[in-house]
Amino acid sequence: VSGATGGVARSAAAQAADGIEEIMARGGERLRALMVRTEEHLDDVTAAAGAPLAVHARATVAAGGKRLRPLLVVLAAEAAGGPQGGEQGEERMVRAAVAVELVHSATLVHDDLIDGALLRRGRPTVAAAAGRRAAVATGDLLFSRAFAELARNDDAEQLQALSQASSALAEGELLQREDAWAAHVALERYMRRCELKTAALFEAACRLGALNAAAGSRELAGALGAFARRIGLAFQMLDDVLDVSGPVERTGKSRGTDLLDGTVTLPFILARERDHDLARVELRTLATPRQAEALCERIASTGALDEAREQALAVVAEAKASLPEILPDGRSELLALVADAVVERYR
Ligand code: IPE
Ligand code: IPE
Ligand code: MG
Ligand code: MG
Repeated sequence: VSGATGGVARSAAAQAADGIEEIMARGGERLRALMVRTEEHLDDVTAAAGAPLAVHARATVAAGGKRLRPLLVVLAAEAAGGPQGGEQGEERMVRAAVAVELVHSATLVHDDLIDGALLRRGRPTVAAAAGRRAAVATGDLLFSRAFAELARNDDAEQLQALSQASSALAEGELLQREDAWAAHVALERYMRRCELKTAALFEAACRLGALNAAAGSRELAGALGAFARRIGLAFQMLDDVLDVSGPVERTGKSRGTDLLDGTVTLPFILARERDHDLARVELRTLATPRQAEALCERIASTGALDEAREQALAVVAEAKASLPEILPDGRSELLALVADAVVERYR
């Protein structure tokens, strides 16, 4: 991306933030106030966890992030008629939003440990800064705080939605390890991994929003969940493109982390089909970030990144097209903008 920024690619987070800022602007004061409450509540929960663990948990949450998942909780609730039961209802919805972001943060801390990642949100990961023991315990703490928060809503269905997503996340990470370094990974298997490790939590976010809403029937929760699931799937596919395309200034994460770690993602799957020499490359022989970057270049030169991006855009388009069937006119506008923000990050 060039132009106003003087030829320097803007960070993917900044780009997504533009999309999110547009949603906030359209959502007006009410949406802003709900997200500020979520933010404050997040900080309270992590601060209350007690030293020394709380230091890492709080720093992880405070480092920012796009807050896409709590935003989905709030937007789904608003689309389904707004939180049920006045002030208390709003508090319940905020708790659900907080719980989803805490699960997300927990998985990031553990994911970075599993992936051997050094950078997160432009800063050293907990594992890199404080070691593996601290990272395991910090992730555990964040998980347990998430469920403690949601339990205060006293609704088994909400707990079930979040615990299903958490189990899916863990299963997805395990599937990813099973397929690590594999000479061939089928597309369906890759998609299943993305569904588990990313789409399931997006789905839970919208479900939780709808479950806390005045007009949030089970059917609506299911339909909004299905919408979010597609958005989440595309989000992961595009994240995997960014891992190969980089650069670090844009993503806040080192380029080629997936490859160095043996993780076979969509760009590599497609590139191997296009270039048979690439298909013979043994991931295990990659030893340095420089070699990983060189492999990223080779993958990019096959055109696989464009193809992967197109596949993800098609999934987003499908999700957006489903909205009119789910919600009456004028109710789905902000959710459609979330779909756009997911794509925006890659322009
Ligand atoms: C990162 O999620 C993990 C993936 C599912 C790819 P985000 O890109 O939403 O992370 P933050 O919260 O904005 O840092
Ligand atoms: C997503 O996978 C992480 C989780 C859903 C836990 P990645 O490993 O691709 O995420 P990043 O790239 O580290 O953010
Ligand atoms: Mg990772
Ligand atoms: Mg990634």
